[in-house]
Amino acid sequence: MNTKELKTALLQLKYPKIERTLEELKLIGEVKVSAKSANIELLTVSDDSYLSVKKLIEDRLENEFEHLNITKKSQAKKDMNYGSSMAPNNRAPYAKNVIAVTSGKGGVGKSTVSTNIAIGLAQLGYRVGLLDADVYGPNIPRLTNTDLERISWNDENKIVPAENYGIKIMSVALTTPKMDTPLVWRSSVAVSALIQFLEDVAWGELDFLVIDMPPGTGDVQLTMAQELPISAAVLVSTPQLVATDDVSRAVMMFKDINVKMAGIVENMSYFIAPDTKHTYHIFGQGGGAKIAQKYNIPFLGEIPLDMQIRENSDKGEPPVALGTPEVQECYKSVVQNILQNAKFNL
Ligand SMILES: Nc1ncnc2c1ncn2[C@@H]1O[C@H](COP(=O)(O)OP(=O)(O)OP(=O)(O)O)[C@@H](O)[C@H]1O
Ligand SMILES: [Mg+2]
Repeated sequence: MNTKELKTALLQLKYPKIERTLEELKLIGEVKVSAKSANIELLTVSDDSYLSVKKLIEDRLENEFEHLNITKKSQAKKDMNYGSSMAPNNRAPYAKNVIAVTSGKGGVGKSTVSTNIAIGLAQLGYRVGLLDADVYGPNIPRLTNTDLERISWNDENKIVPAENYGIKIMSVALTTPKMDTPLVWRSSVAVSALIQFLEDVAWGELDFLVIDMPPGTGDVQLTMAQELPISAAVLVSTPQLVATDDVSRAVMMFKDINVKMAGIVENMSYFIAPDTKHTYHIFGQGGGAKIAQKYNIPFLGEIPLDMQIRENSDKGEPPVALGTPEVQECYKSVVQNILQNAKFNL
């Protein structure tokens, strides 16, 4: 077997348990035959895949050569230098703008607001990606009716994001065997996974990358501010004091780490009784607007506490697209206010 014949044979081998050839997976590097020995370089950085492909080749070629030297390409490790929030890295150069949807508190409606903002921007004709940064409680697939999808890889070995309602979607829940598989990860692993979602997903060119943050003011928030130039943070609050206290903490954190804020959305602001049409301020009134005033950041609008918002969201039918006209209008107006109150590169 000469070099050319060996290379052709290697490219046709099928990766164990996957119906794809080593050629399709772009795993074969330099190949050279001299006398009775062969040198084969594998283009993988993973030890597991190196060992399984090495065994595959050894089994196939054991009678062909006296010496088989199969090496793993020593690839330069990806730059994992963390940036600083003052001069962040840009892990998403394909996105013209990054919007981070966040709040100090859990359960106030970040994921619902992120989803509807992302789709609202797409309705205006922008190219939008939605990244679920809530690694431990990923809800975006359910909210966008993509929970039965699982990721695949394209020919450039990039992860293909899910797509629905005109936006591209990536969530850790699309990578687990089932959507409800819990992840038991240290936060450093979670953060690396998110960086991979920024770098290795085939987002294409985006006008906006919208990021649904996990609750709190922790590692993920800080990392995102260090790894991405965030164009605008959108803070979500509900009117009651315990929520506005937590949002205050988030506002102070963002001021501290120099992230620009588009403003505050007040979710579950009021409830209109379907029978009497009477308006109730279940969680109090004006909490979000007060915070906005206190910290001198824009107030982006109110979204009512509405049974249909919850029902639509649970069914993966985003209210900004499939809700009542009144509800659609609420989200659309928030989107307009975000566009007006932040400096975007469009
Ligand atoms: N305006 C609304 N009216 C009625 N229900 C709402 C509204 N906004 C959100 N919800 C419901 O409240 C629940 C929590 O919303 P969501 O998951 O968006 O919050 P979150 O802040 O992302 O939560 P977490 O902190 O756990 O990530 C969901 O069941 C959602 O459907
Ligand atoms: Mg959420």
